[in-house]
Amino acid sequence: MRPRPLSSRSPRPMFLPLAGMLALTALPAIAAPVLMPQPRQATWSHGALPIDGAFAVTWKDCADPRLPAAARRLQDDMLRLTGMALTGRQGPSLAVTCRLAPKGGDPRAEEAYRLTVGADGVTLEAGGALGVLRGLATLRQLVETAPPGATLAYATIDDAPRFAWRGLMIDTVRHFVSLDTIKRQIDAMERVKLNVLHLHLSDNEGFRVESRRYPKLQTAGNGQFYTQDQMRELVAYAGERGVRIVPEFDVPGHGGAIAETYPQFTLAQPKPANAFAALDRALDPTREDTYRFLDRLLGEMAGLFPDAYFHVGGDEVSDAVWLDHPHVQAFMKAEGLASKQALEARFHQRVAAIMRKHGKTVIGWEEIAVTGTVPKNVVVQAWQTSNATAHAVRAGHRTIVSAGYYLDLLEPAAFHYQYDPLDTSAAGLTPAEAEKGRKLSPLMAAVLTDALVAKPLPPLTPDEEALVLGGEAPLWAETISDEMVDKALWPRAAAMAERFWSPREVRDADDLYRRLPTVQDQLRLQGLQDGDAQARMAARLAPGGAEPVMTLLHLVGPTRNMAHNHRILAALRGQKIVQELNALADAAPVDSLVARQFEARAKAYAAGDRGQAAALRADLETWRANDARFQAVAKGRSALEAALPISADVAALAKAGLQAMDAAEAGKPLSQEDRTAAEAVLARIAAFEAASARPLFSFLGKQPPADLIIKIGPGVRALLTAAR
Ligand code: ACM
Repeated sequence: MRPRPLSSRSPRPMFLPLAGMLALTALPAIAAPVLMPQPRQATWSHGALPIDGAFAVTWKDCADPRLPAAARRLQDDMLRLTGMALTGRQGPSLAVTCRLAPKGGDPRAEEAYRLTVGADGVTLEAGGALGVLRGLATLRQLVETAPPGATLAYATIDDAPRFAWRGLMIDTVRHFVSLDTIKRQIDAMERVKLNVLHLHLSDNEGFRVESRRYPKLQTAGNGQFYTQDQMRELVAYAGERGVRIVPEFDVPGHGGAIAETYPQFTLAQPKPANAFAALDRALDPTREDTYRFLDRLLGEMAGLFPDAYFHVGGDEVSDAVWLDHPHVQAFMKAEGLASKQALEARFHQRVAAIMRKHGKTVIGWEEIAVTGTVPKNVVVQAWQTSNATAHAVRAGHRTIVSAGYYLDLLEPAAFHYQYDPLDTSAAGLTPAEAEKGRKLSPLMAAVLTDALVAKPLPPLTPDEEALVLGGEAPLWAETISDEMVDKALWPRAAAMAERFWSPREVRDADDLYRRLPTVQDQLRLQGLQDGDAQARMAARLAPGGAEPVMTLLHLVGPTRNMAHNHRILAALRGQKIVQELNALADAAPVDSLVARQFEARAKAYAAGDRGQAAALRADLETWRANDARFQAVAKGRSALEAALPISADVAALAKAGLQAMDAAEAGKPLSQEDRTAAEAVLARIAAFEAASARPLFSFLGKQPPADLIIKIGPGVRALLTAAR
């Protein structure tokens, strides 16, 4: 059931838009402020409310203890967004009314809100405390800072989320993520209305939460973990911001940390099959001891995390880790379990019962539901393909969609943005790709399972759609260290927030990229450190000479689909390495907004808008000149020297862009020689772009120098078309 828009039961504000509406016909179109996620409905009128001091906040029917703190945070953010000094002067009124949504109803009704800004001040009516937080997030985005002073745009916004579950997942195991870093992500989540932070807390490399019952667990791997007090603090911090923490302790597979510290409960795969078999240790499903261990351990963890949902993993258990053990075979025979999947389902039935006893609803990755025999109230997280969403909801499970949203694959925002959670045929390898891939090598044939292939499926019925709770964008951390988390998640996570919050029809990628730079800047003003981290990494790569490094970084991105994971690439060759995450590809933005802005300008220029020429030329001249400066700082620094061919190609493209503009403005074609030279560079970078365009195939392609993809190709191509 969709939440009813509040407008149907709230009085129209009396003060608003009369003057503005009358003027509307006479005045030019209103330049609406950038909102992300786009609200369900926004009406703009001419005029803006000066922010000339602190809000005078009044509350009606809002007893929630989170709200006074939310108002204080709003005030702090207003100072950061506007650059105003705190004077003690009273500014505009902010009248907040909470209309309690019915308890136990659709959770989206509590998040609904109506925000109006007019000459008399701001009013915010919300379905509940969460709706107040969502409305205040929108209010921050209405701030405009044009002189003579900061203002809020006049607006009436009626809004409610499309999906109740709008999540990010952070892997804290492959690289430990500090509490401060997690809090910064929660801060940013609140500002774009994301509401679930799923923390992946156990895996082969570590167990990240202090256990008092099994204290050896947190010594596994590098021994980094959060204390129980820290987890309680984090849960409270997130809760104040309308973000739920859902913990994941991955069983029975991804069990290395348990195997290292409590081996009596685990089995190892006798002969690891291939380089992808990081999946070779799992809990022993045949022993009662194992379930006692899980009852005590997960019960302890359940006490730390108040959310009703508790994630038990369930992904990627290799067949051999169980089936190669004679006692497991004997157990299956005795219990009448015909397959590893049946044994797995039996395991998860027991885990779900244990967690029910501890008051939790279980979530598991899609493998948990393959046999259709786990309880229907288990929530399934679809990840390998969009088909998995259809399989799970058709088996009656509520489902969270992550297929298509893996931010660690380092795809641009538009790639993830294109997938609708309800499109069950969208994400995954195509059948044609599967056929081609399986012919490439025996290893590809082994790893390219049917579960990775998305076949065209009929659309979901409305009842099936109602089982889709929403979406979640995971950030696995094999190649993401703590300092990289902000830039690995943002601003792409804001695009995900829009996908999960806004109406389905909001899906124009050009408009997404038009708005993202503003959203990125607003998040930075409010504390996000994606840009700072990049500058810090550039400073480490070239102390005293970081500037040309930063200029280059703005125009490139890392190779995608795990092509930059050198540990996996080495394992495929039978080697083991440690990958330091100190290269240019680690520092580069995942999605170059500078290149996107350049592309938009170049396309406008090619379409005849010569007003773009000055800005285009200024950029191209800087980029052309950067190569000599980059060469100077790269000398003797191998991490930078690796990128010399990339820097040279950027300069060559910049030169080609300038030549194309010269030709276009002289009304002449580009010389054949110049065109041929430009096409050669464009072809080279297109080949490098293609080499990591698809999962698995990315391990076989020839990757670019320094794992860097040049992103200004489409813009330069647009300029070449202008000079025909
Ligand atoms: C997963 O990515 N293994 C859920």
